[in-house]
Amino acid sequence: MARILGGVTSSHIPAVGNAIANGLTQEPYWKRFFDGYGPAQKWLDEVKPDLAIVVYNDHGLNFFLDKVPTFALGCADVYPNEDEGWGLKPVAPFKGDAELSWHIAESLVEQEIDICMCQEMLVDHGFVNPIRALWGTHENWPIKAIPLAVNTVQHPVPTAARCLKLGRALRKAVESYPEDMKIVILGTGGLSHQLQGERAGLINVEFDLECMEKIATDPEWMTQFSNAEIMEKAGTEGIESIMWLVMRGALQDDAKIIHKHYHAPISNTGAGVLVLENQY
Ligand code: DHB
Ligand code: FE
Repeated sequence: MARILGGVTSSHIPAVGNAIANGLTQEPYWKRFFDGYGPAQKWLDEVKPDLAIVVYNDHGLNFFLDKVPTFALGCADVYPNEDEGWGLKPVAPFKGDAELSWHIAESLVEQEIDICMCQEMLVDHGFVNPIRALWGTHENWPIKAIPLAVNTVQHPVPTAARCLKLGRALRKAVESYPEDMKIVILGTGGLSHQLQGERAGLINVEFDLECMEKIATDPEWMTQFSNAEIMEKAGTEGIESIMWLVMRGALQDDAKIIHKHYHAPISNTGAGVLVLENQY
């Protein structure tokens, strides 16, 4: 049977890709931020997952504003990376697992979570940068990956409660796959940031820290907020934090906190890394 070993959440800032590519990770500006991934890398090295399901939002690369699915699942065997305008050099394509994807798609739809199924999918910095920060950059990636895109760009965006439900359905979907497979769920994006308008540059450290704590211990807490309230507190792009709830929903209620790290500001964002482990 497929098993979810745990989950990792991480911000997905585009500048991270350039910092890695240009060898800047130990520079004073970046060091503490990248050091925050150390314990997460160590945990992944110990548990050795076969595949990561990466919950992220497409930033106008694969879906443009003319057609935006609320939830979209990659159902391909390969996912090429492209840059939607940050000047990031594309990395090697990621290997998927179409058979597992179709199983997840069937199970989600059966559980009344309707998704868009994508047999071709380009992945952007939202997908790639957390993988690079956690596993390094490779020509042959050490894990397979399946993209699960959540719309956090074109309103109406799904609620926090909906994202938690998607995560719970994802857990059932994965755990009903008969093949032995070790899986981790990555939740990317957030935490607080706003890239445009009068409040550009907004970061809310207090709210970010509370979100990290509650997502680990009491994720329902976040569902008390409407999306407007989350954006008021965390900035318009801070709404990406709802994707952390997909990861959380896919884990056991009593998942153990392995690691928690926060650094702000980095680029325009309050950046967090959280590692939770399922208990078997
Ligand atoms: C930044 C963060 C994001 O999540 C993103 O998609 C683009 C930019 C930033 O902090 O600069
Ligand atoms: Fe983003």
